[in-house]
Amino acid sequence: MAPEVHPDFTRVRSPFEGALVRLRAVEEDDLPAINEGIWDPEVSRNLAANWPQPLAGTRHWWTRSREQGAQAFVIEPHGEALVGVCSLEDLHGDTRSASLGIWIARPHWDRGYGTDAVRILCRFGFHEMNLQRIGLGVYEDNPRAIRTYRKVGFVEEGRRRRAHFDDGRYVDLISMGLLAEEFTD
Ligand SMILES: CC(C)(COP(=O)(O)OP(=O)(O)OC[C@H]1O[C@@H](n2cnc3c(N)ncnc32)[C@H](O)[C@@H]1OP(=O)(O)O)[C@@H](O)C(=O)NCCC(=O)NCCS
Repeated sequence: MAPEVHPDFTRVRSPFEGALVRLRAVEEDDLPAINEGIWDPEVSRNLAANWPQPLAGTRHWWTRSREQGAQAFVIEPHGEALVGVCSLEDLHGDTRSASLGIWIARPHWDRGYGTDAVRILCRFGFHEMNLQRIGLGVYEDNPRAIRTYRKVGFVEEGRRRRAHFDDGRYVDLISMGLLAEEFTD
């Protein structure tokens, strides 16, 4: 007979479980799917590195991010395979701050996964890592991402004019940030 589990042990909520998705560690087996998803031009044009890398480049990112203490996670909707990746990087102990990054493969946009993943990542950053600030940069021509961040509570803090060049034109980079006390989970 299986030992009885005390109800207290069933009440612990994993910080990596959201309403729609869960976050888990990036495994080496995930790298081909990550490499394919991120180099869709509709995805990569919104990110800092916007031309294709070989699989070796994605492997290099995976190794380097762990060496640098970045927290990178696969995003998995409940019962489904990987749809994207999110991370907290540029961790600074003096200011207890980090930068947030995220992408989701195009077929899975607009289903609430991005908002849920950003919310989980912020909960992890504020409640588990004891961060007091999470920042990010988003291009002005990415209303879907701006809307996603606003839904979680990020506010615009400034703008780096013409900081990006895409499709033959300059684009401003909007800086957004969220402080621990502003985050409502
Ligand atoms: C940005 C991204 C992570 C958002 O993930 P997602 O799963 O599509 O986001 P969600 O479904 O949770 O929310 C998207 C919101 O944007 C809204 N939206 C979609 N297109 C929009 C547009 N053109 N203008 C304004 N809002 C828009 C949706 O309606 C939804 O808001 P709602 O819930 O109020 O209706 C994802 O689209 C992505 O990976 N894009 C490419 C890479 C990228 O831009 N990464 C971020 C770089 S800063």
